[in-house]
Amino acid sequence: MTQQREQWSSKLGFILAASGSAIGLGNIWKFPYIAGENGGAAFVFVYLICIAVIGLPVLVGEILMGRTTQRNPVGAFNRLSKGNPYWTALGGLGVVAGFVILSFYSVVAGWSLGYIVESMKGVFSTFTDASIANEHFGSLVGNPAWILGYHGLFFILTMVVVYLGVKDGIEKGSKIMMPILLFILLILVIRGLTLPGAEKGMDFLWNPDWTKISGESVLIALGHAFFTLSLGMGAMMTYGSYLSKKDNILNAATQVVFLDTLIAILAGIAIFTAVFATGQDPASGPGLIFQTLPVVFAKMPGGSIFAVLFFLLLTLAALTSAISLLEVVVAYFVDEKGWQRHKAVMTFGFATFLIGVPSALSFNLMSDFTIFGNTFFDAADYLASNILLPLGGFFIAIFVGWVWGIDKAIVELKNGAAEMIDGNPWLMTLWSIFLRFLSPILIFIVLLYKLGII
Ligand code: PHE
Repeated sequence: MTQQREQWSSKLGFILAASGSAIGLGNIWKFPYIAGENGGAAFVFVYLICIAVIGLPVLVGEILMGRTTQRNPVGAFNRLSKGNPYWTALGGLGVVAGFVILSFYSVVAGWSLGYIVESMKGVFSTFTDASIANEHFGSLVGNPAWILGYHGLFFILTMVVVYLGVKDGIEKGSKIMMPILLFILLILVIRGLTLPGAEKGMDFLWNPDWTKISGESVLIALGHAFFTLSLGMGAMMTYGSYLSKKDNILNAATQVVFLDTLIAILAGIAIFTAVFATGQDPASGPGLIFQTLPVVFAKMPGGSIFAVLFFLLLTLAALTSAISLLEVVVAYFVDEKGWQRHKAVMTFGFATFLIGVPSALSFNLMSDFTIFGNTFFDAADYLASNILLPLGGFFIAIFVGWVWGIDKAIVELKNGAAEMIDGNPWLMTLWSIFLRFLSPILIFIVLLYKLGII
């Protein structure tokens, strides 16, 4: 017997949940450091173009596939391709990507959870220079019990939300967590901007240094556009599948992209103003958040309170993304295999936790175990961010544009958006050009480059 499928209680519920999925470690941890490493403002500019030209069109396609079929990615590809086994398998790749991303994502989210506790203990106030912060970070992640404990705790939080269901768990959780997140971020932005010397950080973010832009940084910007919008693995498709035909997808997708970009920029402002004001290095890579920022907090008036707020912000952002990753896997087993939600959450939550264990141990017991020269953690991140997501995005663009067919897709898209589409014919012309040509071609070039073929 099939159960009644849940739906969001309102379009706002969808927008908050989808923004929750999009806004995550990508915005607050990754975006500032890759912008820092790739020249600040010039990189931000390229990234914004990627978001508009590829991110938004693919996002609309993904949400639309979900809403049309009211199914998880496997079911969605299966129905729209009329049972073609290859396309159906491609949906399965999304479910696999969900496992892979969540397994390493929750390790970093676990650090963030652990850092809330560290900052509450006031540990950071003694961090007068970077070497102390680096050493402290090294000793924490080098401790298997610390890293596995917080990895597990973060998993439990994620599972609780998904266990409660689409409306009572994901939607309600997002409605509570997203406003808190925005509020905390605004406090941090104001703190950053009012520090003496903040203008150097703003300069860095807004005055482009074009010499720093290379082929490589364009590719990083494109890859990040996928990661940050949760594209290419069916998370947005799954969330779209709980959307009603009355809702305007074009509108909703634009709002999600706007919110995601806004939060990334605000996080950049909060972080770089503080980093420059306290004389730290903006281009310090993945360690920017966990190694540089604690020093920044130590040097900043009121730093210990802002440290707690910051890591709370990061954890909330990661949590609303992690639930969307687990939901893809759960939706597949509920829709296609007839499982009860509760059983699917318990089984696959635990399974993904286990898959994440080698990633967590990459920083200590298993640091010598490498796959093609990468630790398990780096390999999982590389596989997901550089291969699975762009590949998924490529096929989604091709599928909607050519296989399902752009005309049929537009007919579906008109549900809830007829006036907007009929009144602005150029909208669909643009969508069609971007989705059928521009996105697949650009993604293809990126993939070839990443795989070392060009
Ligand atoms: N968008 C999330 C972030 O920026 C990551 C994510 C990727 C979530 C893919 C779901 C699917 O952190």
